[in-house]
Amino acid sequence: MVQAKTDRDWQQKYETGNIPWDSELPSAELFKVLEEYSIPPGRAIELGCGTGTNAVALAKLGWKVTAVDCVEEALVEAKSKADADQVNVDWIAADVQNFGVALGPFDFVFDRGCYHCCRRVDLSGYLKTLENMTRTGAYMLCLCGNPNGNEQGGPPRVPEADLREEFSSLFEIIHLREFHFEDAGGVQGPLGWSIWMKRK
Ligand SMILES: C[S@@+](CC[C@H](N)C(=O)[O-])C[C@H]1O[C@@H](n2cnc3c(N)ncnc32)[C@H](O)[C@@H]1O
Repeated sequence: MVQAKTDRDWQQKYETGNIPWDSELPSAELFKVLEEYSIPPGRAIELGCGTGTNAVALAKLGWKVTAVDCVEEALVEAKSKADADQVNVDWIAADVQNFGVALGPFDFVFDRGCYHCCRRVDLSGYLKTLENMTRTGAYMLCLCGNPNGNEQGGPPRVPEADLREEFSSLFEIIHLREFHFEDAGGVQGPLGWSIWMKRK
């Protein structure tokens, strides 16, 4: 694992296969949102991409994709998915809380399950990364934990008021709605927030 300030030992999770969030299926909410708002392919970055299923799915749709994670083992698996599907993704091992100065700008930032961890460690570093890599008009979709769910376990949950406050300096929120994550095997996972935003 690269030097990264994290809320837990992510490398150990990948090494032991304890990755229930990794459905190995493209996120239904991601592709629903892109279609709903008629967003054409451009330059995208995924923060905390894990084993790369969504980054590869975006590349297959014609996006030019950069994808970042702090666990190199996850990126090795991600690269083999891209190779199998014969698409190019720029995989980067880095801490998303200290990153992005020389990259971009990106038209679209995607985060499924990374922000809700980073905000507990270094929120200002994470937001600085978003600021570094986007310009006015860029979009971001953030999928994160929702405290209104009644499941046991699941991801860190972010109160709606905190979400609004944390993203408000950089983004206008276009929608903030509930959805369900998919877990391994495509079964319905925990309740989440889908936050679709446009950079101010
Ligand atoms: C819940 S997993 C989600 C993975 C992937 N987005 C998915 O949907 O399968 C969170 C991911 O964020 C990564 N991560 C957590 N903190 C990070 C940091 N500071 N820098 C880079 N990656 C980080 C973890 O390694 C993990 O792959």
